[in-house]
Amino acid sequence: LAVRGGGNVETQGSAGAVLRSAAPLPRPFTLPLRIPDVLRPTSTHDGTDYYDITQREERQEILPGLKTVVWGYEGRFPGPTLVSRRGRQTVVRHHNALPVPTVVHLHGGKTPAEHDGYPTDLVQPGARREYVYPLDQPAATLWYHDHRMDFTGPQVYRGLAGFHLVHDDEEDRLGLPSGDRDIPLLITDRAFHEDGSFRYPSRDPSLRGEPGVTDEFMSGVLGDCVLVNGVPWPVLEVEGARYRFRLLNGSNARRYHLALDPPPPGGVAFTQVGGDQGLLAAPVEHERLPIAQAERFDVVVDFSAYRPGQEVTLINTLGRGGTRDVLRFVVTRRGRDDSRVPSRLAELEPLSRDQARVERDFVFARGGAEHHGTTLWTVNGEPFSPDHVAAEVRPGSVELWRIRVQNVAHPVHLHLVPFQVLDGGPTTAGWKDTVDLDSGGQADLLVRFPDDPSYAGRYVFHCHNLEHEDMMMMANFDLR
Ligand code: C2O
Ligand code: CU
Repeated sequence: LAVRGGGNVETQGSAGAVLRSAAPLPRPFTLPLRIPDVLRPTSTHDGTDYYDITQREERQEILPGLKTVVWGYEGRFPGPTLVSRRGRQTVVRHHNALPVPTVVHLHGGKTPAEHDGYPTDLVQPGARREYVYPLDQPAATLWYHDHRMDFTGPQVYRGLAGFHLVHDDEEDRLGLPSGDRDIPLLITDRAFHEDGSFRYPSRDPSLRGEPGVTDEFMSGVLGDCVLVNGVPWPVLEVEGARYRFRLLNGSNARRYHLALDPPPPGGVAFTQVGGDQGLLAAPVEHERLPIAQAERFDVVVDFSAYRPGQEVTLINTLGRGGTRDVLRFVVTRRGRDDSRVPSRLAELEPLSRDQARVERDFVFARGGAEHHGTTLWTVNGEPFSPDHVAAEVRPGSVELWRIRVQNVAHPVHLHLVPFQVLDGGPTTAGWKDTVDLDSGGQADLLVRFPDDPSYAGRYVFHCHNLEHEDMMMMANFDLR
């Protein structure tokens, strides 16, 4: 049985104390939502699209009147959105113009090992690196983010994250809301220093005068300001029509329970059409949507249930004060709407327990290893090491992975492979790549490994609380 969602207190049983901003924060719902630009290919030939991205530092106005130094893809937080077609090869050439090594991982991508962004496969400052993505996978909301070993938390916090959407014909035929009514929403929390810079309790004293490895840091970094697409508590004007929102929790350590306030009269708040790895077999309705770090929910919201002029707030029922507010919609007028949400969405083959020839147990907990007197987060008692293989898996096989988590909640993510959660309940429908478990919780995952020999190699799986990940809650599987 999958038990999900954190507790209902601000610390959520999984993360440290909330860092307070010293800079003045804007009044909620005064700044317009930004939608990241779609990046155009630099060139296209032989069925491959080539993109160029420079990772660089830039000053971005996040808080009114202040400049925040951002480490961004193309200097922006979030980075530009990439849009690909299923099966059409996408090559992204990254140029690292930052003062630190980086690694790019396409989260949710079915990517050969050498392009998957292994945590020690560094792009040094000044260097360039080409990542090749076959994208031989169904339409889905993927995202790309930094994955540097030991430093993923601080580097993502400083801005290294963006969307990568995959479309396919099956999705096109459905008639879901599209164009201006298909909007990616990256939800993150941050705290700010007085001068507007990001506040992160770093282990590297050269970065900022913050405490070193404290328990607060170990548990996960929480900010007091919720940003959507890099804007604090933004506002978005919508027409009275259906919209598709691609919700992504890109926070380091915060999980949210999303709801609409007020709920649509006589309707349902969220009609989920897709999850981490793409479209569901059939829509699932939610009044409240728990979303853990790295999870994606593609939902349709029908604003025709509201009257023109009405304000509707996307709230986080786990939050208090500023972390309760997320985003406000203002319904302008009735809009023409040809979109639909069909009752059948995608062909998904349900896996069953007896297809699994191998069963493995993984315990995500604190303990088994120390670093400077701090007890680390581990998988089966082992801290991450690039040389230690926790599972050798066979191409084309289905395995049952029994995940148990202890001490606090942990969102567990597997690279490369989609999985189905057995008996997981309504929020775990479809193919997923991240599953959230409460302390003491357990989930049985049916994992399918690709048959194609081009995917042979070593991949990681880990907790997506980024501070837990940096504090070694990560392991390897070898596909061969
Ligand atoms: Cu979102 Cu290993 O990553
Ligand atoms: Cu964790």
